[in-house]
Amino acid sequence: MIVLAHISDIHIDDQRSIDRATRVMSYLNTLPGPIDAILTTGDLADHGLHTEYLDVAKVLDSHWPVLHLPGNHDVRGPYREVLLDVPASTEPINQVAHVGGAVFALCDSSIPGQADGYLDDVTLAWLESVLAESGDAPVFVCFHHPPVLLHMPFVDGIKQSGEDRLAALVSRYPNVVALLCGHAHTGAASTFAGLPLPHDVPRALVRRAGTNTL
Ligand SMILES: [Fe+2]
Ligand SMILES: [Fe+2]
Repeated sequence: MIVLAHISDIHIDDQRSIDRATRVMSYLNTLPGPIDAILTTGDLADHGLHTEYLDVAKVLDSHWPVLHLPGNHDVRGPYREVLLDVPASTEPINQVAHVGGAVFALCDSSIPGQADGYLDDVTLAWLESVLAESGDAPVFVCFHHPPVLLHMPFVDGIKQSGEDRLAALVSRYPNVVALLCGHAHTGAASTFAGLPLPHDVPRALVRRAGTNTL
């Protein structure tokens, strides 16, 4: 069994957002656990500022493994410099993590300067390499933008496009067990390519960090 806490869209900018997310993390950090991972599916900083990522790093501090990926409010340069401690770059931020016997493919669905999402060719090629190397391990494919309609007009207008390419890819790997995303600022569960697709919702623990703009 994998115990995953899924939070999303903490949009750190002011003290209110810091306090809100800190309350959620304090709850998670005091659980007896074990929690295999705390997954944060994007929009970590509200404006993508270097100073905001310094606060994000403090807020997300935990003795449990913390996984994160960018959303449309994030900016790749400061994200890399502060959260990943690597030089700034405009390339997609794609990361893989191995926790609890599972593989987490953390994909960058953001399009710099836009609110909607897309897994570009570089990211899809990277994802395929992760899947090809995963063997029989369960794989969670994670990104910010939902690749399905939620029938929420504003969210649907800034969803992830090009979803047929993603569906074709994950359908070739039966060890993909679920896709996890954020962006919707609401708890929802759907399916995609025959797989579970929770939005801003945990598989095992429920705690939302609250919302402001998407
Ligand atoms: Fe978003
Ligand atoms: Fe958001």
